[in-house]
Amino acid sequence: MKLLVTGATGYIGSHAVLELLEAGHEVVGVDNLSNSSRESLRRVEALTGKAVPFVQADIRDRGAMAAVLNAGGPADGARAFDAVMHFAGLKAVGESTEQPVAYYENNVAGTLSLLDAMESAGVRRMIFSSSATVYGDPQSVPIAETTPVGSPSNPYGFSKLMIEQILRDLAAADPRWSVALLRYFNPVGAHSSGRIGEDPQGVPNNLVPYISQVAVGRREALSIFGDDYPTPDGTGVRDYIHVVDLARGHVRALEFLVNAGVGQTDPSGQSPRAAGDQAPANCPVWNLGTGRGYSVREAVAAFEKASGRTIPVRVAPRRPGDIAACYADPTLAREQLGWEAEHGLEAMMRDAWRWQRQNPQGYEG
Ligand code: NAD
Ligand code: WQD
Repeated sequence: MKLLVTGATGYIGSHAVLELLEAGHEVVGVDNLSNSSRESLRRVEALTGKAVPFVQADIRDRGAMAAVLNAGGPADGARAFDAVMHFAGLKAVGESTEQPVAYYENNVAGTLSLLDAMESAGVRRMIFSSSATVYGDPQSVPIAETTPVGSPSNPYGFSKLMIEQILRDLAAADPRWSVALLRYFNPVGAHSSGRIGEDPQGVPNNLVPYISQVAVGRREALSIFGDDYPTPDGTGVRDYIHVVDLARGHVRALEFLVNAGVGQTDPSGQSPRAAGDQAPANCPVWNLGTGRGYSVREAVAAFEKASGRTIPVRVAPRRPGDIAACYADPTLAREQLGWEAEHGLEAMMRDAWRWQRQNPQGYEG
């Protein structure tokens, strides 16, 4: 199949492009390079021996997106692309509380512009990067897809919730569309080659990149944000998932939408609705997580073991908006997609460390 991947040079996008190519698909990448480097896709090309045409464009530029989506279509007027994998967006939770408009504009308005361009090109299949953040502070863990979405604690989370709603409404209104909403838990790690990985700009917001930068000597110590949570060791518990497993989940979701014929117009012209559920069947939702939660202290210990380095830590106050524990019930993805995470915490930390050690300053180093 031929895919347009937005946010293709980013952390998860670049790993997904690699897995798509390995699975035999063709990819065109789009990114405005606001939070990533062109170098990531060059490395994906080197790793796979396959070309990835790249267009530097902003998803908010509807004309540019329509041009990309319509380009190179076969002369018989068939569609140029089979689907869009949509990773592009801003993702820094703290920044989103300071610049909410920028977040709604990039994420929500950007997605609307992309959808409009897709419609104009007749490309009506999308795999969307959502987030476990849409569950807010859940009443209980593990979190299944049937858990009602909650109230995210920041504009970033709300932007994901809004996009999910837009996509659900679109799928309900038009049976030709098929959309997969993938709710990621905590993606970490890197490709086992150590050639591509997470390269945050400035001070890392997330735990594993921060630990990695401490290990490589770029930062002094990790601040543990709170050790008085109602968890076994008092630190926050999360479902860390290896980015390669996550990327493979996208390939499975794509195959599901295509093979299950999701989104093909049925004779009634109605959007199929899943029984006993408000979600249209042409807009499935899957959690992508491991189902296992680890605390901050367990993550630090695993990283120390994988790297052979000591990570100095100090306990700091809780970070506003953080919750005690969050981990997935990944049963639905296993049953419907035949997908489950294969890498454990040790592999996640080993690969995160290999990437950081080989690229101490990231792609620009
Ligand atoms: P990333 O920042 O590495 O990748 C996002 C990419 O989108 C970047 O390359 C950036 O330059 C690009 N981009 C941003 N705005 C754009 C725009 N208007 N037009 C074109 N390109 C634009 O982040 P990531 O970790 O790879 O995340 C990918 C997606 O997954 C995002 O939508 C994010 O919200 C979502 N997500 C990430 C996590 C996580 O913890 N990393 C968790 C859940 C969901
Ligand atoms: C993990 C744990 C922190 C940094 C965020 C977003 C979420 C999703 C994934 C996009 C928590 C603790 C962290 C540090 C620490 N992103 N921590 N010291 O907060 O679970 O999720 O990224 O959709 O929306 O909110 O991930 O990696 O920031 O934190 O102690 O320097 O590590 O308190 O318990 P989080 P994280």
